[in-house]
Amino acid sequence: MKVLLIGSGGREHALAWKLGQSPKLTKLYAAPGNPGIAEHAELLSLNVDDHVTVVTFCREAAIDLVVVGPEAPLVAGLADRLREAGVATFGPSAAAAQLEGSKGFTKDLCARFSIPTGSYRRFTNADQAKAYIIEQGAPIVIKADGLAAGKGVTVAMALDEALAAVDDCFSGTFGSAGAEVVVEAFLDGEEASFFCLSDGKTALALATAQDHKRVGDGDTGPNTGGMGAYSPAPVMTADMVERTMKEIIEPTIRGMAEMGHPFTGVLFAGLMITAKGPELIEYNVRFGDPECQVLMMRLKSDLLPLLHAAATGTLDQVTAEWADDVALTVVMASKGYPGSYDKNTPIGSLPQTGSDEKIFHAGTAMKEGQLVATGGRVLNVTAAGATVAEAQAKAYALIELVEWENGFCRRDIGWRAIMRENA
Ligand code: AMP
Ligand code: GLY
Repeated sequence: MKVLLIGSGGREHALAWKLGQSPKLTKLYAAPGNPGIAEHAELLSLNVDDHVTVVTFCREAAIDLVVVGPEAPLVAGLADRLREAGVATFGPSAAAAQLEGSKGFTKDLCARFSIPTGSYRRFTNADQAKAYIIEQGAPIVIKADGLAAGKGVTVAMALDEALAAVDDCFSGTFGSAGAEVVVEAFLDGEEASFFCLSDGKTALALATAQDHKRVGDGDTGPNTGGMGAYSPAPVMTADMVERTMKEIIEPTIRGMAEMGHPFTGVLFAGLMITAKGPELIEYNVRFGDPECQVLMMRLKSDLLPLLHAAATGTLDQVTAEWADDVALTVVMASKGYPGSYDKNTPIGSLPQTGSDEKIFHAGTAMKEGQLVATGGRVLNVTAAGATVAEAQAKAYALIELVEWENGFCRRDIGWRAIMRENA
């Protein structure tokens, strides 16, 4: 099978690494890719925003499957254009990508199909939003409706902070994403990420993971795209997984089909495990980054037939096998991230890795034969082990060997799970 992978992050490197192990793969292309992805794929200089060019390439190269990594091309309708042209595509239509693209859309879906989530109201007017917030009281959560690069959410512990967040959204801080605001009840519990595939009719549970969103040790400092992750998430017991499938995922897949927007691709549910059970915080319509890296490390099955089945409506014919091992990844980022940082800082040669270790590339590039850091999140140092503590020790031992002066990482990825292991 000939596959085109769209994207250039650590997530896509993990997908390329896993696809590269498939006996069914005859050729892997990636656009735009990165130097890590280049170990497994031929990189193309296609402009992925130009959908006509992507479709033309797929036809000429007889691509059997396109795998879209990030959300932006999905929200922009790349999967629609490809499917219209008869190209099997892993990733939702623009209409189905509203599950990530519009928080209001998802909340309305939850209300209509009785999916457990915090109670909410949608507002396009600051005064009305503020009146509702005052009536509800703090803690309360304020969200810009649209895609705001993970920065549009304020979990306000005090009323003042909540009211300021409303002004912030409507003042244009998040551009058009903030033209509508969702005010949502605060959910108290432990967070977990749950991943499943869907072909529009059937849902296949994949695995669970836990991200670390804050930049600093002990979950302090500003939010980031994710500084590290592990899988599985211990809070997601077999019972919680079953409840999540029945109460959240299956009604979503049924609801989306009923509304005329069948969901094809990977559904990433951000959950809060509250006293009542799993409740939905948000959906993403793509693999998490860096959660994908730990999922791929634990996946024993061939990834290619799974993604192909999701893209072609045959998901009821496949199963996914997972290693019992824990996988853990530590993100190395450029000093200054998530604020401003220097670009093109040199990275020395990367250490050798064992069979249960891998260093995935995110924001890297080759400049005149030298590997350099070009992004905020740059390397994902990943390892598997029998326990979280063991996987963590292996990942940090590898990090000691990475020669990159401008890099930093959190030193406590996995701390919550290790506390549980030690309890
Ligand atoms: P989101 O971008 O929707 O994932 O929100 C970012 C983060 O805000 C989540 O990972 C949670 O930590 C937190 N959050 C979002 N919604 C709620 C909620 N209703 N209650 C408590 N925390 C929330
Ligand atoms: N790591 C969080 C995300 O990919 O959205």
